[in-house]
Amino acid sequence: MRLIFLGAPGSGKGTQSKLLIEKHEIPQLSTGDMLRKAVQDKTEVGILAKSFMDKGELVPDSVMAGVIKDRLQEDDCRNGFILDGFPRTTVQADTLGNLFEENNLKLDAVVYLEIDQAKLVKRLSGRRICSKCGTEYHLEFKIPQNSGRCDQDGEELLHRSDDHEDQIVKRLETYNEQTLPLVEYYSKKDLLKTIAAEGKMNEITQRIEDSLNL
Ligand code: AP5
Repeated sequence: MRLIFLGAPGSGKGTQSKLLIEKHEIPQLSTGDMLRKAVQDKTEVGILAKSFMDKGELVPDSVMAGVIKDRLQEDDCRNGFILDGFPRTTVQADTLGNLFEENNLKLDAVVYLEIDQAKLVKRLSGRRICSKCGTEYHLEFKIPQNSGRCDQDGEELLHRSDDHEDQIVKRLETYNEQTLPLVEYYSKKDLLKTIAAEGKMNEITQRIEDSLNL
């Protein structure tokens, strides 16, 4: 199963991918996570990406093409994957289409998580992430038992640097300008599954599974 999860920042791409990969034993390929790791490790890609990510802008397509090409060649991708956060431009979508063609791979569907953007600032500004294990919390929707500490390992919870209101507004603008056209792009290819991304997390997972006949 090869899927793309498409949607605005905070629409639930990461949350829903994680729930599905556990059940279906395929990896989640989050370009955001890959870039944050590169920033932390201060690699060449990370140093370049940081300036764009801090401003809520997209990392250049030429850089992202290399990142995704390398990741798709890894062994764990052989039986499928969920792409979370890639592609984000039509240039990236074309790059991905070419990679699939070269490797005789078939894209099964593009899951589009549709949501009222007015709700997203609250969702994103309340997100907190464990500095050690990466478990995600939310100050309102998934509250940790001990304020500021992870339930799993007691480590400090961090506020992502681009989850502050100014950057969230910029990320949404970037999304509307550069990523939203992919809805039409994949709709024309008859690959789009539009999912209402509001409500309880497990209800949304069920909607996705129903739409994919899983
Ligand atoms: P990335 O990390 O991909 O950020 P994003 O798309 O902005 O995605 P988020 O993780 O913020 O949102 P999400 O849709 O995954 O929602 P989530 O499930 O986490 O990218 C970061 C940056 O990297 C980009 O801005 C860009 O600079 C760069 N980048 C990445 N990929 C790139 C690419 N391909 N090209 C160029 N640049 C790239 O949920 C969010 C919150 O909501 C969580 O707190 C969660 O608990 C909560 N939540 C989720 N579902 C629900 C629900 N049903 N009810 C209540 N709360 C919910």
